[in-house]
Amino acid sequence: MSKKMILSKRLQAVKPSPTLAITAKAMELKAAGHDIVSLSAGEPDYDTPDHIKTAAKIAIDEGKTKYTPVEGIKQLKDAICAKFERENGISYKPNEIIVGAGAKQVLFNALLATISAGDEVIVLAPYWVSYVDMVELAEGKSVIVHCKEENGFKPRASEIEKAITPATKWLIINSPNNPTGATYNWEELVEIAEVLRKHPNVYVMTDDIYEHIIFDDHKFCTLAQVDPSLKSRILTINGMSKSYAMTGWRVGYGAGPKEIIDAMSIIQSQSTSNACSISQYAALAALNGPQDCIAEGRDLFERRRNMVLDLVNNIDGLSCKKPSGAFYLLINCSSFIGSSGRVGDGVGSKVEDKMVGKEENMVERRAVAARAILSSDDFCSYLLEKALVAAVPGEAFGAPGYIRISCATSEALLKEACDRMKKTCFDLRQ
Ligand SMILES: Cc1ncc(COP(=O)(O)O)c(C=O)c1O
Repeated sequence: MSKKMILSKRLQAVKPSPTLAITAKAMELKAAGHDIVSLSAGEPDYDTPDHIKTAAKIAIDEGKTKYTPVEGIKQLKDAICAKFERENGISYKPNEIIVGAGAKQVLFNALLATISAGDEVIVLAPYWVSYVDMVELAEGKSVIVHCKEENGFKPRASEIEKAITPATKWLIINSPNNPTGATYNWEELVEIAEVLRKHPNVYVMTDDIYEHIIFDDHKFCTLAQVDPSLKSRILTINGMSKSYAMTGWRVGYGAGPKEIIDAMSIIQSQSTSNACSISQYAALAALNGPQDCIAEGRDLFERRRNMVLDLVNNIDGLSCKKPSGAFYLLINCSSFIGSSGRVGDGVGSKVEDKMVGKEENMVERRAVAARAILSSDDFCSYLLEKALVAAVPGEAFGAPGYIRISCATSEALLKEACDRMKKTCFDLRQ
C-alpha cells in the first residue's frame, strides 16, 4: 500500500490560482467538444510582436543560452532604468533593479525576502488573486481593506491608515487594477503618500503590470514618481506580459532600494537562478524597440471595453462600472444571489454531469431540480452550465457578489458571450 505524502503546513492555507483553474476547466470542456466561450483569460489574445520574436531567435543563434547574472543581464537592467526615466520620470540605478520570471516571481521573492511570521500586508480588495496566497506562503497575514464600488473600487486614504498597525510591513497598490480596472490618479496617490509619510515603517509594493492598458483621458502614474521622498520605501513592480503580449516568456522586474533588491536576489539565486536568458534578450528588444504595439493593444482593449460595457449594462440584473484600465470587467451580479436556477435542461448540465462522472438517471433527477444561487461562485457555475460562458467568481478577488470577465478575446466571441449571458439571466429572472 502506498504511503500518502504529508504536505507542508505552509501549503494548507493556500489555494491554487482560481483563474488558472477556471481557464483549465473551460479548455477541458472545449476539448470535449462543447462550445464554451471562455472569458477567464488574463493575457492578451494577440501574438508577441515580430521584432521581439526575432531578437529571441538571434539570441538562440548567438548562443545566449547560458545562465545569466541572478538579477538579469546588464543591458536589460540598463533598458529598464531607461524605461523608468522615459515613461515615469523616476531614476533608478542598475543595482536597484531585479529581473525575474514574471512580475509574479518578483512579488513572491519580495514577500519571501521580507516577511516573517505575523508580519502584516495591507491588501486592497478587490485584489489580484495571488497576493493573499503569496503572503500566506511567506507566513505573513493579509489585512484586507474593502474598497467599495461606489468609491470606484478605490480606498480612501483614511481607510488605509486605519488598517496600519505596528506589524504592517507592506501596502500593495495595483493600478490599473485587476479585476476592477480602477486606476489611481495623481491626487489620490498624493493622499496615500501623506498617510505613508506618517508611518515610516510601512513599505509599498506598486504592481504596475497594467501600466499601458489605460483608457480615455486617464494618465498612468506610480507612487515613486508622485512622491520621490518615499522612494526608499517603494518597490515598483512591472513586466513584459501585458504591455508586449509576452505572458509566456516570463519576464518581470522590480525596482527599489538596493538592500531589498539584494535580499530578493538571494531568494532568486536559491530558486530559479535567473529569468530565461532568451526571454531577457526578447525583453530588451521590446523595451528598446518600436513601441507601436502598446498603443495598438490599448486601443483594441478600449474598443472592446466600450462594446462589452454596453452589452453587459443592457442585461437585466447585471451592472458594471466603467473600468479605466486593464482588460477586465468586474460585474455586479448580486441581484441574482438568492435566486433559484433550474438546472438539467441545458447542454451544459449534461456536460457537468459527464465531467463529474454522474449516473444517467442523475441527469433526469436534476432536470426537475431547482438550485439556489447563493454566491457569485454559484452564479459562475450556472453561467458555465447554462450559457457555456466561463467567467471568474468574485470570491477569488475578495469581491463576493461580482464576477470578472476578460476582454482578451475576439469581439465576435465577446458579443456571443454577452448574448448568451443575457438569455440565461432573462431565464433566471422568470
Ligand atoms: C495584477 C497582476 N499582477 C501581476 C501579474 C503577473 O504577471 P506576470 O505575467 O508578469 O507574472 C498579473 C497577471 O495576471 C496581474 O494581473
